[in-house]
Amino acid sequence: MRSSVMRDLMAITARPEVISLAGGLPDTSTFPPEAFAAEMDRITRTSVAEVLQYGPTEGIDLVREQIVKVMAAEDMRIDAMDVTVTTGGQQAIDLITKVLIDPGDILICDAPTYPGALPTFLSYEADVVQIECDADGMKIDILEQTLADLAAKGRKPKFIYSVPTFQNPGGMTLSLERRRRLVALAREHEILIVEDNPYGLLRYEGESLPTLYSLDGGNYVVYLGTFSKILSAGLRIGWIVSPTPIREKVVLGKAATDLCTSTLTQDFAGHYFEKDRWREYVDDLVGIYRGRRDAMIGAMSEYFPHGSTWNKPEGGLFVWATLPDVINTEDLLAKALGKGVAFVPGTGAYVDGRGASSMRLNFSGVKEDEIIEGIRRIGTVAREQLSLYETMTSTDEMRLPPRPGPEEGER
Ligand SMILES: Cc1ncc(COP(=O)(O)O)c(C=O)c1O
Repeated sequence: MRSSVMRDLMAITARPEVISLAGGLPDTSTFPPEAFAAEMDRITRTSVAEVLQYGPTEGIDLVREQIVKVMAAEDMRIDAMDVTVTTGGQQAIDLITKVLIDPGDILICDAPTYPGALPTFLSYEADVVQIECDADGMKIDILEQTLADLAAKGRKPKFIYSVPTFQNPGGMTLSLERRRRLVALAREHEILIVEDNPYGLLRYEGESLPTLYSLDGGNYVVYLGTFSKILSAGLRIGWIVSPTPIREKVVLGKAATDLCTSTLTQDFAGHYFEKDRWREYVDDLVGIYRGRRDAMIGAMSEYFPHGSTWNKPEGGLFVWATLPDVINTEDLLAKALGKGVAFVPGTGAYVDGRGASSMRLNFSGVKEDEIIEGIRRIGTVAREQLSLYETMTSTDEMRLPPRPGPEEGER
């Protein structure tokens, strides 16, 4: 078992004086309290006994039907029967890994990958192979080569896990051409893809791309979704869409884990998504988060040290930044916490220690002025570390005997 960096940071970042750019928290303060009260009032009047009761392991029908609708908003056509409601997207990752992985099985994922998935993969003793990503997502050439190398050794991965749209933590999106190639490779090698898509509806600019699920039609792609980022993380509702043989095992796995997802929160979400205003709320979030993303990018240009790089994600909740390689972001985090600001160090997104100069920065959870102040503080400690390094290295050079050169000859 390995802990997740994000969870470790939760306790510290819950302190009100800390500006947390660490978690992937949606801004729940934007949710209209009247809409919440209206759902609770309806429940009180009509369904107290039902919501206080157990429900079916695969989820209540109303929610499964609403999931069909939410996925249709991203052009996916599914059958409610193929949906298993889970306790958040995190349980969806856990269940699919539990069902598919035996100890020592190979599992392929992005490099960097969602930091919360790695502890899950490792807890089922998967042999995790990470495929490098660039601005267009997973490098499919490298994947192809890796599959060929593994096949030559008589090994085949159980599945390829990817967050192709507005990736957590990298913010990048898999290009259309790579999406097509990934789906084709999965078919050719008969390997499942697990597409995790919490952020697809949170697009701030650019054209939507088809999901892997819609390109494949649900044959080799198992789809994971969640309401956490478009409604609420506290309701803990996610889902898996999978072919029947996998769904049956997922339901057995879920029954062994928690019997069913909260009937109360399912009832809330099911009725909430029945009404069309859920789209308006997503539009509101898109407007708010776009402004915060821009505030973060602007502040980074102003405060981050020379030699740093970062991307401008077209959607989602994260910017991925890489500082000059003399800076270790785990050390930097310790100093940044001293200044009351937190981020996720890059190493949490890899199994092998890569990402030591990188960091994940979240822009959804705090307001623009705090984002700017948080980035200013991180930039200040990063520049302090850099100038310390420069001082130390130039002192070292002064200790070295003078190099022979033209000046020497001249002397
Ligand atoms: C890629 C990805 N998958 C799954 C999850 C977990 O989602 P949930 O909060 O619904 O459990 C997250 C949360 O940030 C995520 O970014």
